[in-house]
Amino acid sequence: MLAIAGLKAKDIMGFCLIHRIGVAAAVNASQDGTDMIEERSPLPTLQGQRIHLRPHREDDLSAFFALYSDPKVMRYWSFPAWTDIAQARDRFSTALLPPGANGIHAWAVAGADDALIGGLTLFSIDSSQRRAEIGYALQSAHWGRGHAQEAMRLALDYAFGVLRLRRIEADIDPRNQGSCRLVERMGFVREGLLRQRWLVAGEITDTAFYGLLQEDWDRHAQRA
Ligand SMILES: CC(C)(COP(=O)(O)OP(=O)(O)OC[C@H]1O[C@@H](n2cnc3c(N)ncnc32)[C@H](O)[C@@H]1OP(=O)(O)O)[C@@H](O)C(=O)NCCC(=O)NCCS
Repeated sequence: MLAIAGLKAKDIMGFCLIHRIGVAAAVNASQDGTDMIEERSPLPTLQGQRIHLRPHREDDLSAFFALYSDPKVMRYWSFPAWTDIAQARDRFSTALLPPGANGIHAWAVAGADDALIGGLTLFSIDSSQRRAEIGYALQSAHWGRGHAQEAMRLALDYAFGVLRLRRIEADIDPRNQGSCRLVERMGFVREGLLRQRWLVAGEITDTAFYGLLQEDWDRHAQRA
């Protein structure tokens, strides 16, 4: 269930290559005088060692549906696993839009062959408050290989370094050990328990609410 200043784009090149450097040209000033990326910038591809984050493509639909129809992947998600590809179409069309059109950054996580193996999304981006939420899922066949950590590092570098966000939040079912462990590995702090926050397929569940500040991420990056 789920649910970006300081650095310039060049500062994060050690972690990721931003292929569409056009984004750097779109940096402008936010209300507190710091630079922020313009929301109409195209979604960039972020290149990691083994995986990369790229914009969704029309031919991703069946892999997109397969991901969110796997009951294992959807066990702790905010809606039940899809059973019909028609259920995927609305969200897929949203995922295809550039960030400025819908206020979200929806990346496909892809392996060396460029096929979609997961998704990572920054959403509820509040430019004036400089905060956002993050959500992610990988096909279960790819779990436990560090791919999620790699995807998170790329997205968090982008969120803090390029989008110049200040705080990122994650809303996680406390029973979702893999997800809790993942965000803790990234330096997120568990800030509280929100009781009975979700009702999904008749099951009422709590939220473990996590937050990561830009300064937490800077400290985390220094240790890594
Ligand atoms: C959460 C998810 C993305 C993690 O993916 P992953 O590729 O297995 O994660 P990684 O291999 O990068 O591992 C991240 C850390 O979590 C740990 N971990 C992964 N799965 C775990 C599990 N089921 N139980 C306990 N720890 C787990 C790993 O050991 C690693 O910690 P370590 O470096 O200290 O060993 C994946 O399990 C998933 O897609 N789940 C379904 C969708 C979902 O629940 N998304 C989150 C919604 S809030």
